[in-house]
Formats: sequence, C-alpha cells, structure tokens
Amino acid sequence: MIILGIDTSCDDTCAAVVEDGRTVLSNIVSSQAPIHHRHGGVVPELASREHIRNIVPVTDQALKSAGVEGRELDAIAVTAGPGLVGALLVGIYFAKAFSVALDVPLVGVNHLEGHILSIFLEKHAPSFPFIALTVSGGHTNIYHVQDFGDYTVLGRTLDDAAGEAFDKIAKLLGLGYPGGAVIEQLASQGREDAIDFPRAYLSRDSLNFSFSGLKTAVVLYVRKWMEEKQLNREVTMADIAASFQAAVVDVLTDKMSAAAGQAQAPTAVLAGGVARNARLRSIMQQRMAQDKVDLFISSPEFCTDNGAMIAVAGYHRFMSGHRDGLSLDARSRFPIDQV
Ligand code: KG4
Ligand code: ZN
Repeated sequence: MIILGIDTSCDDTCAAVVEDGRTVLSNIVSSQAPIHHRHGGVVPELASREHIRNIVPVTDQALKSAGVEGRELDAIAVTAGPGLVGALLVGIYFAKAFSVALDVPLVGVNHLEGHILSIFLEKHAPSFPFIALTVSGGHTNIYHVQDFGDYTVLGRTLDDAAGEAFDKIAKLLGLGYPGGAVIEQLASQGREDAIDFPRAYLSRDSLNFSFSGLKTAVVLYVRKWMEEKQLNREVTMADIAASFQAAVVDVLTDKMSAAAGQAQAPTAVLAGGVARNARLRSIMQQRMAQDKVDLFISSPEFCTDNGAMIAVAGYHRFMSGHRDGLSLDARSRFPIDQV
C-alpha cells in the first residue's frame, strides 16, 4: 500500500511516500526558515505564498526519489488541521486536484495524529497502549494512546507551547527563527544552574503545562541583564539559554514521568519538533529508565514537520475505511478526539 503524505500546516512544505505505513521511500521537506527568520516568527501570508511556489516541485521530488509514478499511489493523505488556515489550504487543494487527476482516494489527516504516529517510521516501534508527549511549536500535549485512531488527551499546555517558548526566547535574544536549535547550541556552552527560572507544575497531579510564566521570567531577567551587562560579566547569554532550556526540560520530563505513573503505562513515546533537542532526549531517557518505562523517541528528521508522518496516519485511516471527498476543508483547530 503506497501513500503520498502532504503537510503544509505551518512553514515547511512537506511531501513523502511511505509503504505500508512503515517504510519511508522518500521524505522531502522544503524549509521556509530563511524567509521567516528576519521576522522572528512565521508570517502566515508569506507561508501560504511559499507553499504555493513549493508544493508542486516538492511533491514531484518526493515521487521521483521514491521511484513511484503518481498512478501507482493507493491514496493521498493530506493534513487538514490544526494549523494556519491559508497554509493548510494550499496542501488540501493541491491534494484534491491530484487525487481527481490520478483517480486516487483522498484522506484528510490530523497533524497531531501524524506526530504521535511518526514513531511507527522507526525500526523499533512501540506496541499499544502507550503514553505520548508531542512537543512542538504549536502544541504540547500528553496522550494516552490505546490504538491507531484511539487517543485520550491527558494533559495540554494552557498557554504557550514549549517550542513557541524556545522561539520567543530566541527572538528576545536576537537569535532569529526558529529558535529551538539555536538555543540548544548556545545552551551547550552555558551553565544550567546559573539562573533558577520558575518551573510551573500547576496543581498537584496536573498533567497540564504552562510556559508563559517562564517566558515572562526570562524576558524580565534579560531586560535587567542587558542594563547591567557592562557591570555583570558573570552571567552570559549562553547561561541564560542553558538555564531556560533546563527549566523546560525539567517540566517536560517530570510531567511525562507523572503521566506514566498515573496511566500505569509501561511504554512512552516522545515526538514533535522540540524532541529534536538532545538535552531533552537524554534527560527523558534517564528518567524513563528510572521509572522502568520503555521510551521510544522519533528520529530527528521525523520529529519536526514532515510528510512521512502524515502518510502513516493516512495509511491507518485509509485501512479503517476512511475516505474524504472534495468537501475536505482546513481546520485551524482540530481536537484529536475528533479524528
Ligand atoms: O513539529 P514542528 O516542526 O512544528 C509544529 O508542529 O509546531 O516543531 C517546530 C518547533 C519550533 O518551535 C522549533 O523551535 C522547535 O520545534 N525545535 C526545537 C529544536 N528543534 C526544533 N526546540 C528545541 N530544541 C531543538 N533542537
Ligand atoms: Zn508539527
């Protein structure tokens, strides 16, 4: 079963070809980062315009490097939401046209389901049930995953997503967009214990997240630090990045540990763009090992947005009989329990 997966939910134009929901034949991502970099964040109109420019060549490249002709596809899976509506529409309308032209079924996919199921692109994949933390620029959620298509939300962010916090702090420090990778690199030269930034745990037993207090604390610290920089040479920008990253990693690992305990889950999955962070990967590994929970982490290329994860989710929806018609529409909000 050969599925083309397309994602244009944010600022990457993605297309991939995946066989049987497991084997990646190609995975092409055209990043718009240089375009949004100077604005310190994604500009929705620019993202849509770039998707329009890129969607045809990116899909063409995905088919060519997979060695697959359009008419050999069994289905076309496309992200229907959540995401930026103007950006989503480019992928959706392209997928509709392609599906009609090739006479191949169309399947709309929830982007968050794609992040969760990205783990099935790995050689060693988990068995159900498991808990999953998807941590990206738009979302920070913990799910209890019982089966393909069966997801219960255990916790979510009440304000900023973790990746959004990385991006905002990077902007504040004048490091451009996207911020995660730059902050991580800077943090590797800093001291994690230089500044004790707040960790928000909310109520006891809560599996929800809040990163806005941390963000405000860093903003206030940086303002003061800039004013005093001439006098205070003790704290470097790398120290700020490392201390901020440590606060995010602490909360994510503590909540994941609590979720595994509450759900009595023997298995956990870590996915989404922020899961590329090496510090998060290693601390999460240590903690899950202590908790005797088997942890599976997506490969870096499948953590950030990609078409392969959409093809996996599309494959399982297609196998369960799901089909979409030309009425498929973009959904800026798309709760996962509505898939
Ligand atoms: O999953 P993704 O590509 O898009 C969304 O669905 O949001 O995630 C992008 C996010 C950005 O906020 C980016 O700063 C963050 O993932 N990110 C990282 C790292 N690489 C990407 N955050 C921390 N450390 C990284 N190495
Ligand atoms: Zn994403």
